[in-house]
Amino acid sequence: MRPAKGPSPADPRAVAFDILNMVFGDGRAADEGFDRHPGAASLDGRDRAFALNLVATTLRRLGQIDTIVAALVERPIPRRGAQARNLIRLGVCQLAFFRTRAHAAVDTAVELARTRGPTRPYAGLVNAVLRRAAGVVDAVVADQDAPRMNTPDWLWRTWSAAYGESTARAVAAAHLSEPPLDLTLKGGDAPAGLDALRLPTGSLRLRHKGPVPDLPGFAAGAWWVQDAAAALPATLFGPVQGSRVIDLCAAPGGKTAQLCAAGADVVAVEHNAQRGRQLQGNLARLGLAAELVVADAGAWRPAEPADAVLLDAPCSATGAIRRHPDVAWLKTPAAVAALAAIQRRLLNAAVEMTRPGGTLIYCVCSLQPEEGPALIEALLESAPSLERRPVSADEIGDLAEAITPAGDVRTLPCHWPEQGGLDGFYIARLRRI
Ligand SMILES: C[S@@+](CC[C@H](N)C(=O)[O-])C[C@H]1O[C@@H](n2cnc3c(N)ncnc32)[C@H](O)[C@@H]1O
Repeated sequence: MRPAKGPSPADPRAVAFDILNMVFGDGRAADEGFDRHPGAASLDGRDRAFALNLVATTLRRLGQIDTIVAALVERPIPRRGAQARNLIRLGVCQLAFFRTRAHAAVDTAVELARTRGPTRPYAGLVNAVLRRAAGVVDAVVADQDAPRMNTPDWLWRTWSAAYGESTARAVAAAHLSEPPLDLTLKGGDAPAGLDALRLPTGSLRLRHKGPVPDLPGFAAGAWWVQDAAAALPATLFGPVQGSRVIDLCAAPGGKTAQLCAAGADVVAVEHNAQRGRQLQGNLARLGLAAELVVADAGAWRPAEPADAVLLDAPCSATGAIRRHPDVAWLKTPAAVAALAAIQRRLLNAAVEMTRPGGTLIYCVCSLQPEEGPALIEALLESAPSLERRPVSADEIGDLAEAITPAGDVRTLPCHWPEQGGLDGFYIARLRRI
């Protein structure tokens, strides 16, 4: 059989199309889609960056794009046309946000539609909708309320209730931009040649992004990639030199590395063996070491409770939508409720692992109250052996707006706007009495 004519599997638009189909067809995270896609690895650096940007921008602007598409189709696209819809979404994204010339965006989409079975019957529709879109997108986009339209209703409602509508809007606006890349230094000064700003919390924020392994200090293990907000929880124990610290849900090991670099004797508990190996590889590059336990943190117990326990629980990751825009469309209220039940179980286990007088730090990169303050309030009410150790602004780089009235930390993507924002983290510090 002759190979199908048209874009090769390593065409960046074809890769972007496949990834979008994985996200919306299989509910797979876009990053995982890129890792699994056979053509993605053979893209050169420029094409890879284009494909990544095309997927990310389509996901960041999905509400705007879908509104444009809905206005241009004569009748709703049927379910069996789901892949054609994804192809149209990518085309509209290029027309509206990449300033791609109309014929290039339309022709490449139509050509791709003709090469694939599920989209072949829709090639005419793809052509017609994108031609119409080319004539109107600029004017339509100029009038759209981007933060609101690109936020699913349930997230908008929960954030407005939790933070107030203007903050919810600021969070949603922050999600429209690509976030900066932050590094945590193992110690000492930044490597020569690293063009980065030192944030008040100590993290380094790169002024120019590039392939991470090419950055000064990578091979020498001088730093690791970690958002500035993600670097806060481990610092809230204070000095840990010589202390035994249990780090629960530890992979890929950003917080384990911080604790090891600060001189702690760390037990890292991770239930996914492959991710555990990744953690060990990351620590090895940094010249650090921890004891790895591959186990369910809810069931495992140490021989003795520890002075310090960190629980960075699995969560909905709605605080990291800037980095993973698929989260906004894949997560649901039911998923949040299910995660909260898992977090409750892990928290109860973490309490048992903390010795009287010891500190337990709980954190999640979620903006949903059910995964953060609601869990901690319920725990404090039900466990008289626990009290809060409130955090003060000077412990987190004077970021006063991130300290809640109760003394927890709640960073938001709209914090530090001039420096490029932060991931959304909730952090509570508790003492076992
Ligand atoms: C938010 S990530 C942790 C990030 C990590 N602490 C860091 O700083 O790099 C959550 C991790 O928890 C792990 N995990 C999920 N459920 C777990 C469980 N019951 N026991 C142990 N690890 C778990 C996941 O595999 C994932 O690696």
